[in-house]
Amino acid sequence: MWVLTMPVILNRIQPQTLQSIPTKDWSDVPAQMHKYKKFKEQNWLDIPHQAAHVLDEMFKYLTLQYKNIYFDFKVYDLKEGDCGCALPEWHIDVTPDPNHSTKECRHLIYTTEIGTEFLLDEIVVDRHVRNFRELLPIKGNNTLQVPPDTISLYHRSNVHRAPIMVKDCKRVMIRLTETDVF
Ligand SMILES: [Fe+2]
Repeated sequence: MWVLTMPVILNRIQPQTLQSIPTKDWSDVPAQMHKYKKFKEQNWLDIPHQAAHVLDEMFKYLTLQYKNIYFDFKVYDLKEGDCGCALPEWHIDVTPDPNHSTKECRHLIYTTEIGTEFLLDEIVVDRHVRNFRELLPIKGNNTLQVPPDTISLYHRSNVHRAPIMVKDCKRVMIRLTETDVF
């Protein structure tokens, strides 16, 4: 049987800045990492008030059209030259499979200091590619760094990487992910 297979195109949907958030004082918030916590199971009493305010604003942009919502809250004490997160390489989130059969995940992200860097060039991916690493190395020169202290929207197919710090700082990342992958 002949089956029509269309290639996936990464970065076809561009990231979007939705709302700026007044700069907050995070100095009393200790370094911590909460990664892909199930939204319903999160103990919201543990969340510092600064993060709760950001989340209140983020909630407005949820679609509630997915199986699950996950919450990330990361606070890092960083030195100049450090990477803002664990992933300095170009990558996609949630699953390494660019051909995953579920619909596009949605990510709402907020960071302080320096925003995430997104690749804007489209990448055509064959249907047989099951892992984003097969596409590396990627040489992208058309990029967008979303501004700090804003809520931005991106999707699973947006290739991105964490920025390098230009000074010592405390960097906060808050993210809500709507997904059908897991
Ligand atoms: Fe990421």
